[in-house]
Amino acid sequence: MLGRFSLLLKAQPFFDGREIDMNILMLVGSLRAGSWTAQLTRSLTDLVPAGTTSRVHTGLGDLPHYDQDLDTDQPPASVAAFRAAVEAADALVVATPEYNGSLPGVLKNAIDWASRPRGASAIADKPVAVLSVSPSPRGAQWAREDAERILRVAGAVPLEQSVGVPSVHAAVVDGFFADFRVEKALGELMQSLVDAASAPAVPHAA
Ligand SMILES: Cc1cc2nc3c(=O)[nH]c(=O)nc-3n(C[C@H](O)[C@H](O)[C@H](O)COP(=O)(O)O)c2cc1C
Repeated sequence: MLGRFSLLLKAQPFFDGREIDMNILMLVGSLRAGSWTAQLTRSLTDLVPAGTTSRVHTGLGDLPHYDQDLDTDQPPASVAAFRAAVEAADALVVATPEYNGSLPGVLKNAIDWASRPRGASAIADKPVAVLSVSPSPRGAQWAREDAERILRVAGAVPLEQSVGVPSVHAAVVDGFFADFRVEKALGELMQSLVDAASAPAVPHAA
């Protein structure tokens, strides 16, 4: 019932029919198989315009703890693969649950790897849509705020708006959006991300 209802909602046009050749990489801050954050993030692939490729990077759990001694010209293979995926992306989605009032270590670790080498990092100037997800009513607001701040310090460009999804178990059911307000907010977030990634790059001041 909910699924059919949501399928109808999926027909809502968040985009104006443009075909956009764009590559969006999604980073999910939970490694567990039944993750709400991962479920919700996978559903975002329905909210991007035709022509857009969006996929979740599945290797965050394979990254070693950040260690400057490992960060050489030949970093571990998992790091090289992750940096290449970030580099190849036109834009990122960072989706985070909240652990003890902030973002999980796995996500912070990934951002740390992506932020180096300094001055030539994969994440530099990358537009990022940040969303936080929680079964609680607060929507993991602290994790979201911390993720935005950390991404900014790392050199990425988080969108001005971000989305917190509270009570996620009621917002997404069996992979379908069950709450149109959440679907609408996330659709608008994805539209802003595509717009930001389509905008001409602003050259840095010398
Ligand atoms: C170590 C740990 C700390 C947590 N701390 C918070 C918290 O500070 N705020 C919150 O809303 N939920 C907290 N939770 C509950 C998570 O929001 C919940 O487990 C959520 O389902 C995790 O996201 P996931 O479903 O994507 O794995 C915590 C869970 C764990 C395991």
